[in-house]
Amino acid sequence: MRRITALLAFASVALLAGCANDNQGAPDSPAAAASAASAPATASPASAAVVQADTSARAHAVLASASGSDVAGTLSFASTEQGVHITGRITGLKPDSTHGFHFHEHGDCSTPDASSAGGHFNPTQQPHGHPGEGQRHAGDLPNQTANADGVATVDVLTHDVELGTGSSTDILGGAVIVHAQPDDYSSQPSGNAGARIACGVISRD
Ligand code: CU
Ligand code: ZN
Repeated sequence: MRRITALLAFASVALLAGCANDNQGAPDSPAAAASAASAPATASPASAAVVQADTSARAHAVLASASGSDVAGTLSFASTEQGVHITGRITGLKPDSTHGFHFHEHGDCSTPDASSAGGHFNPTQQPHGHPGEGQRHAGDLPNQTANADGVATVDVLTHDVELGTGSSTDILGGAVIVHAQPDDYSSQPSGNAGARIACGVISRD
C-alpha cells in the first residue's frame, strides 16, 4: 500500500513536471516559429514593393501651344515591363492631319517656337530614323494623326527610353513636342516635320 502511494506520488510529480515542461515549451516554440515565419514574410513583400516602384514610375506632360497654334493636350507616361507607355490626347489640330511627335532633349518649352527644348532626345548618338526600326534617336516616336475633330488619341509604347531611372535614356525632365508636319522618318536631323506647335515638359506625377 505504501509502495503504491509512493508510485502515485511520483507519477503526480512527473505529470506536473511534464505539464510544466509542456507549458514552458508550448508558448515558446509557436512564438519562435511565428516570428521566424513573419520575418521573411514581411521582408519579401517589402522588397517586391521596391522593385514594383521602379517599374511603375509615372509622369505627365501638359502640352502648351507653340508657334502660334491652338494645340493643347495632356499626356501620361507609365513605366511598364514592356517599355514606356504614352497615352493621352492632343487637341486643336487640323482635321485628319498627321504630325511628327518626339521626345526632345531639354525640358524647356519657354520660347514661343519651343526651340528651347533643343534637338531630338538622342543619348545613344544615332541619326534620326524610324521609331522602333534601325538606327534612330531614342526620342523618335510614331507620327500622331488627328480625327475629323482635330483630336489625336495617343497610345504609344516605346522600348527606347526609360522613365525615372536616372539612366542616360531617362526621359523624365525632358520635353515632348508635336510638329506641324508629319515626320518622314529619314530626313536629318529631325524628319522634316516642320514647326513645333506644342511642347510639354515630362514631370513626375
Ligand atoms: Cu520633334
Ligand atoms: Zn529624331
